[in-house]
Parts: sequence; C-alpha cells; structure tokens
Amino acid sequence: MASQGNSTDTLFSPYKMGRFSLSHRVVLAPMTRCRAMNGVPNAALGEYYAQRTTPGGFLISEGTMVSPGSAG
Ligand SMILES: Cc1cc2nc3c(=O)[nH]c(=O)nc-3n(C[C@H](O)[C@H](O)[C@H](O)COP(=O)(O)O)c2cc1C
Repeated sequence: MASQGNSTDTLFSPYKMGRFSLSHRVVLAPMTRCRAMNGVPNAALGEYYAQRTTPGGFLISEGTMVSPGSAG
C-alpha cells in the first residue's frame, strides 16, 4: 500500500466529498442523543451541535424517533 505520509497531516488535510469541500477529515457520526423533545428539534439540540462544529467540518445529526418507544 502506498504511503499517505504523516497520518495526522492527512487527517487535517482538505477533502472534496461530492459537492462538499471539507477543510479536514474529522467527521461526527450520527449518535442517538434523544434531544429532540416529542420529536421536535429545539434550541438545546442546536447548541449541542454548534459546540461540535468546526469551519469546513462535517457532522451528522441524529434522526428524530418515529415513536416514543423507538428511542434506544
Ligand atoms: C440515527 C443513528 C444513531 C446512532 N446512534 C449511535 C449512538 O448513540 N452511539 C453509537 O456508538 N453509535 C451510534 N450510531 C452509529 C454511529 O454513527 C457509528 O456508525 C458507529 O458508532 C460506528 O462508528 P465507527 O465504526 O466509525 O467507530 C448511530 C447511527 C445512526 C444512523
């Protein structure tokens, strides 16, 4: 396998993902935070993701639950 150089350099290097031009490759995967009360996203949810965003970064927020019993 060809060397990709210093892996830290690669992690923090730009990446073109479709129509998105990312400034680094650290991505937040979706997680079940259950912050959307009654299935409706609120200010606390916005603050949670705002705290984790970076310029040119990519994060995936969680989906809302299809029913109260579906929350894991
Ligand atoms: C809607 C949704 C919710 C998820 N919630 C969690 C979670 O709460 N905790 C978790 O570890 N992974 C959760 N996952 C899976 C993660 O996004 C991720 O795929 C998993 O942690 C494995 O990531 P890795 O292989 O990069 O370590 C969720 C995925 C989806 C699509």
